[in-house]
Amino acid sequence: MSGRIPRDFIDELLVRVDIVDLIDSHVPLKKTGNNFVARCPFHVEKSPSFSVSRKKQFFHCFGCGASGNAISFLMDFGHLDFVEAIEDLAGFVGMGVPRESIEYQSGQKKEDLNGLYRLMEQVATFYVERLRTGDAGKKAVEYLKARGVSGNCANDFMIGYAPDEWQALSARFDPKLLLETGLLASNDAGQTYDRFRGRIMFPIRDKRARIVGFGGRVLDDSVPKYLNSPETPLFHKGKEVYGLYELLEKNAKPQRILIVEGYMDVIALAQFGIHYAVAALGTAASQAHLDLLFRFTSELVFCFDGDRAGREAAWRAMESAFSSLKDGRQIRIMLLPPQHDPDSLVREEGVDGFVGRIQSSETLSEYFFGHFSSELNLSEMEGRAQLVIKAKPYLEKLPESVFKEMMFARLKELSGLGRLDVLDNAATLVPNQGVGIGRKRPQDNGRLSSARMAIALLVQNPRLAELVEQWEIDWSELVFPGAALFKNVLQMIIDKNPVNVAVLVECYRDSADEKSIKALALLETLIPDNGVEAEFCDAVNRLLIQAREINLARLLDKEKGGGLDAQEKQLLLKMLTAK
Ligand code: GTP
Ligand code: MN
Repeated sequence: MSGRIPRDFIDELLVRVDIVDLIDSHVPLKKTGNNFVARCPFHVEKSPSFSVSRKKQFFHCFGCGASGNAISFLMDFGHLDFVEAIEDLAGFVGMGVPRESIEYQSGQKKEDLNGLYRLMEQVATFYVERLRTGDAGKKAVEYLKARGVSGNCANDFMIGYAPDEWQALSARFDPKLLLETGLLASNDAGQTYDRFRGRIMFPIRDKRARIVGFGGRVLDDSVPKYLNSPETPLFHKGKEVYGLYELLEKNAKPQRILIVEGYMDVIALAQFGIHYAVAALGTAASQAHLDLLFRFTSELVFCFDGDRAGREAAWRAMESAFSSLKDGRQIRIMLLPPQHDPDSLVREEGVDGFVGRIQSSETLSEYFFGHFSSELNLSEMEGRAQLVIKAKPYLEKLPESVFKEMMFARLKELSGLGRLDVLDNAATLVPNQGVGIGRKRPQDNGRLSSARMAIALLVQNPRLAELVEQWEIDWSELVFPGAALFKNVLQMIIDKNPVNVAVLVECYRDSADEKSIKALALLETLIPDNGVEAEFCDAVNRLLIQAREINLARLLDKEKGGGLDAQEKQLLLKMLTAK
């Protein structure tokens, strides 16, 4: 394993890079006032609503809501994962990426992997040759033809044939590398032999076209029907899907991606012109799978066989589905008729029939609640109670989003709990409640609330935390709207010492508060630079007064019920006399 990228380095990168230059190198920007604008690269639009701020080192699209720092831009724009984006960004500013392990080791490791990738490529080519030659190859081709796989399609997927021999590979390639890639297996006596023999071979390519593993199918009814590469330095089943590279070759930004179960399903669908299917490799789709796929599309369709096993698999997929459903992402569930898989169905019903089924497949919410409605009797109280107990843990997995809010609302409706507060923690989970960040409330009259102003200024000017520290206020006891977020941001700045807003936002990547913090970073406070400190002090003072009033009201209320203990009485007295 290569080591982690040190946090300090990421901070330094964000300080060194100018987001305007970076984005301009991908999407030409035009200067207007303090900002730079362009037509948004993340959605189709006629007039530019994509804006980049040099001061904040942040981009934001008023049209589609995309926003973030330089790292987020590269991740979204280049479909990169976090580490890849860091590597790209480092390249852009001319820095090497340090790793926390010893430099020498990670350098060495990279060299080794390159050798392994080269070997995989050579072996795949060897398998393709074997498919095209000899009697055994002919038999394999006949098998593929009988299953309706065309020569073109076999080419696209680089399908090959592993000869039915024990030492075909070790006679041609370096046995040490073969062992490392799992192409050779060894028995108890330490003898090695080819893992794949007499099988149709499906190379599994990552999105950069590198072969990371193989799947192999027998030509008859013998078992095991399929054999996959074991986990190796190149191949991690939980992270790769079959068919992604081939899909991206056809369309880098598909409207939707279909997740099916088998290699042959992916291939049959492609053969019929449905080039947007991938298969999880004999495992349930993991959250890593879904996050990977959501980098290329906003809609995933899970496709399951209609038998009992298929329905159970569909339900098991809910866990990872719920965790990955951020706003703007959609998941559908498609259950096929019994006795069918996508391969057999598309052959029977043709493309139009199959695509029609995709389009009329259930949305995740329909499927989710439908599942319970068929399992429980919702006309009885017991059934509705069961519904709440069973559904709630799933809904809690959803990232903060409008969708989450709506799912809880639906649960309230179905359970008849609308007026009780069993579900009320749902309401507090809804983003932006309390402070109302990013939303203008009627009573605002266009002015920002004190809390919103204070937190936004703090987020946009992390150095203000020093001021707060000097005041030596004990925040732990103070209650006011937005208090939790204010304390959270303050603590983050004290802990991480970010030099600017882009670095601070980076600290919140993938956390529950990420959205709120981004919204605050983007908020137009309309305070000139030299007025920031004074405005911040004012806002915090108003918050302290609010906290005091809330506390006072709480004590007076409790006192009316006669329930103050000695300590509370003293506090109340002190507050009243101080007033
Ligand atoms: P065909 O019979 O070729 O149409 O296969 P299929 O893709 O319809 O296979 P099936 O629905 O039986 O299995 C779906 C997927 O599960 C396969 O593509 C494999 O990834 C995996 N799988 C099936 N059988 C085995 C097996 O015996 N061993 C392993 N490791 N995986 C299997
Ligand atoms: Mn099949």
